[in-house]
Amino acid sequence: MCGIIGYCGPRPASEVLLSGLKRLEYRGYDSSGISIGTGGSLKVFKKEGKISALRNIVPADADGAWGIGHTRWATHGGVNDTNAHPHTDCSGKIAICHNGIIENYLGLKDRLTGEGHEFRTETDSEVIAHLVESFYSGDLEAAVKSTVSLLKGTYGILVMHTDHPDQIIGARNGSPMVLGLGDGEMFIASDVSAMIAHTRQVIYFEDGEVVRLDSKGYEVTDMRNRPVDKKVDNISWELEEMEKGAYPHYMLKEIHEQTESVHRAMSGRFDDDQATAVLGGLNMSERELLGVRRVVIIAAGTSYYAGQVVSYLLESLARIPSSTELASELRYRNPIVEEGTLYFAISQSGETLDTLMAIRELQRKGARVLGICNVVGSTIARESDGGVYIHSGPEIAVASTKAFTSQLTALYLFILKMARMRNMAWPEGQDFIDGLRSIPDLIGRILDGEERIRELAQKYHRVENFLFLGRGLNYPVALEGALKLKEVAYIHAEGYSAAEIKHGPIALINEHTPSLFIVPDDHLREKVLSNMKEIKARKGPVIALCSEGDTDAADIADDVLYVPRCPEEFSPFLMVVPLQLFAYHCALLLGRDVDQPRNLAKSVTVE
Ligand code: G6P
Repeated sequence: MCGIIGYCGPRPASEVLLSGLKRLEYRGYDSSGISIGTGGSLKVFKKEGKISALRNIVPADADGAWGIGHTRWATHGGVNDTNAHPHTDCSGKIAICHNGIIENYLGLKDRLTGEGHEFRTETDSEVIAHLVESFYSGDLEAAVKSTVSLLKGTYGILVMHTDHPDQIIGARNGSPMVLGLGDGEMFIASDVSAMIAHTRQVIYFEDGEVVRLDSKGYEVTDMRNRPVDKKVDNISWELEEMEKGAYPHYMLKEIHEQTESVHRAMSGRFDDDQATAVLGGLNMSERELLGVRRVVIIAAGTSYYAGQVVSYLLESLARIPSSTELASELRYRNPIVEEGTLYFAISQSGETLDTLMAIRELQRKGARVLGICNVVGSTIARESDGGVYIHSGPEIAVASTKAFTSQLTALYLFILKMARMRNMAWPEGQDFIDGLRSIPDLIGRILDGEERIRELAQKYHRVENFLFLGRGLNYPVALEGALKLKEVAYIHAEGYSAAEIKHGPIALINEHTPSLFIVPDDHLREKVLSNMKEIKARKGPVIALCSEGDTDAADIADDVLYVPRCPEEFSPFLMVVPLQLFAYHCALLLGRDVDQPRNLAKSVTVE
């Protein structure tokens, strides 16, 4: 979703901004722009489409010493050059970039129009430029503070003014913002990837904070002008982790990285002697964990499906009632928070607004919410009451892949810990640890068989409708497989419980609508085999994703994909990988933009 970058320093600002925006591309966007201060005036360049299109219209001599840039993911107003940010005020001296949504912009716009301001765009964001103009009387920071005090909604804002060369004001409420400290230069952006090529030292902002920066330094204050002391963090990952390397797409790279990322998510987190997990970040004593009577997981998208797998297993192995809820729904349901309920928020990016707002609602009611995040220092990671980092490394492709298996890993460790405190004995704990440890190698074996998955994609990529069916632990995996195919190949796919198709979706079955069944070697296998036969009886093509050696499934199905055998509780790790690869290869064959699918954003910072 929208990305922001600002720069003050000795380098040509346009180059720093354009390369920073390039690094923000992965968030998903439809237009972009930069504004640079030079010779007492502002130059603004905006373009619909990719950053390369913007680069083409920025002249080589357009360099200033400071500037701001933006990638826009349209919410208010169509996708075109005009609606792209930065937006300027009437005088053309002020430029702003905004990430988020200003909910009360219509009222503000009416008022400003009445005062004579002329609006040029259809966006909600333009009111910010005119408000700053109306409040400005020599102190840009004061004008920005007066502006944001009127705004309702979410924002990460950067503002520059020709009368204040080398100065940017940044403010945040609900949208991420991070400052990068350089040597004689400063960066500010919506995420560290925009500045990682230049600095590792960063400062994360909280809501209600305002920063004034120039090439020499920065000052952070709150809305009542009180200075705020900020901690400087160090980014631990390397620039290379953000590169595609030898892979044609980030999505493929990230699917292949799962042998490593799953390993990283569990590494150092086992206590072999006690056959349990060590999760110090939970910030909870054994006694407190023993007092947990219920676990509720909140999340969105792929993270939501990971949560559903975990809820199922928490109940069956640790015997703790658990459910997974869409954060966007829970928030507005006036959720009942009870003593003894522990909440987990799962979020790869740590910035998904639906999830963040649900966390705040739960915390306001006194709940303890733990975070399962990938991005270190992200808002959800900072605002939750403890948690586990999954350490997947940067996930750049919009469609989430490696985060899913790492989220499972982190929460399987939690299941182990909770189960060992209750009814799981030492030998079973050891078996569980052995099972988890074997996952990276088993994923590696699936990746070795990628060619077979590509062949299957070759056969099926032209179909218009697809069903993904599973049961038990693999019901959410079926949903995730369907989501992947929709996201990257734009093929309509429905994920369903294999048991439920007879209650409706079976009406869709004909010889052009294939059904992919997930058939692990578990206690529901026989039932799923029967469901497969029901589809075959109606001439529907059937693909079986099953365990090696499952000849029963192979006999029923038209096509088979095998994964290595494993204890049934670990099957989601293995079943999801062929589905990720299948979606990838279908998308590739259809010529889709695999890493940045249309209309989607990596980090969804609006409701
Ligand atoms: C977006 C992404 C999805 C992701 C979802 C939740 O929709 O495109 O891939 O699963 O947000 O993101 P999170 O960062 O909270 O896991």
